Amino acid sequence: MKVLVIGSGGREHAICWKISQNPKVDKIFCAPGNGGTHAEDKCTNIDITDIEELVNFALESEIDLTVVGPENPLIEGMVDKFRSKGLNIFGPTSEAAMLEGSKIYSKDFMKKYRIKTAEYGVFNDKDEALKYIKECEYPVVIKADGLAAGKGVSICKNYKEARFTIEDFMVKDIFNGAGKNVVIEEFLEGVEASILTITDGKSIIPFMSAKDHKQIYDGGKGPNTGGMGAISPNPYCSKEVLKDFEKNIMNPTLKGIQQENLDYIGIIFFGIMITKKGIYLLEYNVRMGDPETQAVLPLMKSDLVELIEASLEGKLDKFDLQWEKGACCSVVAASKGYPGKYSTGFTIEGMENSNNIFAAGVKIKNGEFITSGGRVLSVYGLGNNLDKAIESAYNNLKEVSFQGMYFRTDIGR
Ligand code: AMP
Ligand code: GLY
Repeated sequence: MKVLVIGSGGREHAICWKISQNPKVDKIFCAPGNGGTHAEDKCTNIDITDIEELVNFALESEIDLTVVGPENPLIEGMVDKFRSKGLNIFGPTSEAAMLEGSKIYSKDFMKKYRIKTAEYGVFNDKDEALKYIKECEYPVVIKADGLAAGKGVSICKNYKEARFTIEDFMVKDIFNGAGKNVVIEEFLEGVEASILTITDGKSIIPFMSAKDHKQIYDGGKGPNTGGMGAISPNPYCSKEVLKDFEKNIMNPTLKGIQQENLDYIGIIFFGIMITKKGIYLLEYNVRMGDPETQAVLPLMKSDLVELIEASLEGKLDKFDLQWEKGACCSVVAASKGYPGKYSTGFTIEGMENSNNIFAAGVKIKNGEFITSGGRVLSVYGLGNNLDKAIESAYNNLKEVSFQGMYFRTDIGR
């Protein structure tokens, strides 16, 4: 079996690593991949990102299965294009991917299917938005409708901040169209959880819960990043929380997908907020989370390829998804200065010898691993419980080093 994995981050390295464990798989291509995927068992990088070119590559190379990591190609219709050529691909169609591609679409979907979410208003006129923020309660959350590279959500403490955000999004158009329309919503206080699920359009199965650590500094301080680490399971996801999530968020989502006739075979990531007033859905993502995947897949006992195949065949209801006992902690090592300015090109020591590393901003140059991005790599540890997993992750992290390596010391705490 030949598998094509789309993407270049730590998430995609984790996906390649997990897929390579299936004995049926003899070859994995990662497009464009990174230094870690290239070095992974059975795996070769290919330097293609254009969808049409990828279709041609998949046809010529007789790819049996394509798995898409990031949201952009899904929203741009990669699944539709692959399928139209008879290629087997795992992910939602571009229409279904609107659940992530448009905040307005997803909020309206939640409302229609009575899924508890923050109260909101939709604005396509800046004067209306400015009028609203004069009267609303603070803090307030302003969200660009479209994709904004993870920067489209602004939590505004007062009118002044909200006005700047509206100016930036709607007038200065800093997101090239994606912020022309906005959602303004109620601020929710609570703890967040990420729950990945898989659906074949008929049933839906939750993965082990996870928790992301978005801020750059210990204690959740400083600016947001692409994620500085993750743990799984999420300690706040008690049995009651998970039951409530399944009944009031996950199952109604599947019902909505069916009633809207969305063609959804893929992953649905639910970003939830656990508050004193109950569990709210913050957002949908139409793909696996990064860095959640790097903490969730090491705990998956079942085979990922078999799981994906069951989903593509519409047989998820018969799939018994199994998890390892215990916990996983994954810590990101970043370049000094990230998420601001940082330098790259430093040699990474110790990468060859560790098998608990997922690479992200890593390149291979003259046979050496060198840094090439802000979030360079993540190292995970497993344990019978969260404390043991954390200890193991930080011990494993000692094996790797590069100039300016920075990591949080409190992942999972
Ligand atoms: P989203 O892309 O909608 O998940 O928003 C990104 C992040 O902004 C979330 O992970 C939360 O940390 C935060 N956020 C979004 N919406 C809200 C809200 N209504 N109340 C508080 N925080 C929020
Ligand atoms: N970790 C959040 C995301 O993948 O969007």
